Amino acid sequence: MSQLVFDEALSRRIESMYARRDFQRRRRLVHDALAAVPGEHVLDVGCGPGFYVAELLDRVGPQGAVVGVDSSAQMLGLAVRRCEGYDNVAFHEAPATSLPVADAGFDAALSVQVLEYVGDVDTALAEMRRALRPGGRAVVWDVDWSTVTWHSADPARMGRVMRAFDAHLTHPTLPRTLAARLRSVGFDAVTAEGHAFTATELDRESYGPALLPMIQNFVTGGGGIDDAEATAWATEQRELAARGEFFFSCVQFCFRAVR
Ligand SMILES: C[S@@+](CC[C@H](N)C(=O)[O-])C[C@H]1O[C@@H](n2cnc3c(N)ncnc32)[C@H](O)[C@@H]1O
Repeated sequence: MSQLVFDEALSRRIESMYARRDFQRRRRLVHDALAAVPGEHVLDVGCGPGFYVAELLDRVGPQGAVVGVDSSAQMLGLAVRRCEGYDNVAFHEAPATSLPVADAGFDAALSVQVLEYVGDVDTALAEMRRALRPGGRAVVWDVDWSTVTWHSADPARMGRVMRAFDAHLTHPTLPRTLAARLRSVGFDAVTAEGHAFTATELDRESYGPALLPMIQNFVTGGGGIDDAEATAWATEQRELAARGEFFFSCVQFCFRAVR
């Protein structure tokens, strides 16, 4: 099975998911960590559908500027539409490992749930650091997928499904090595904070429940999971929810660092 491809269909699905409550909560936490202020220049690596870029444009104001980079033309199309009407924003289609920006041009840079998809994480982090001015701030956010705690009466099947879903990205447990990686490319003042995203209802506004259809779709036919098993897995979650027994939790990690 190959990892997720951020094509038109997936980009639109992610855009719709990212408007929901837990994704808004995540953005509030990232904005608190980044602490962008009026007049600053901010770089979003793997900007996706552009929610952060649009919100940062409001934070930095007309004297500031925001640049979004993403390797998916479809994601960038959504981001460009979201930021229409601003003349202090630019987007580039490029890999995180080769940012088309000048050295030391940014006060702050963020990369949210992107590096877990990138093969050469160290080069991507070195590129973020290169783009920052001395004293500039970086915020890197990724999920440790091994922290998923998801109730099922059939834990063996749950384990098979989640192992198959690990193939959707390159680094299922990237946060474990991110602090060391940030330091090794030269960042200082590296800190990490874990944030649990927990749901006790099968509620589309919550992180795990929002992902359920995407997980079912991804694992079907891959990693030894056939259609019947994937359907049974998803059906059980709806049945647990109907009985008030649904439970999902995972930990997402916010790293801060300074050039
Ligand atoms: C899960 S989405 C997150 C989007 C955005 N950071 C957010 O949180 O709203 C992951 C994004 O990373 C981008 N991406 C994946 N691999 C990339 C790479 N090697 N270089 C640049 N962008 C990449 C994808 O195209 C996608 O837009």
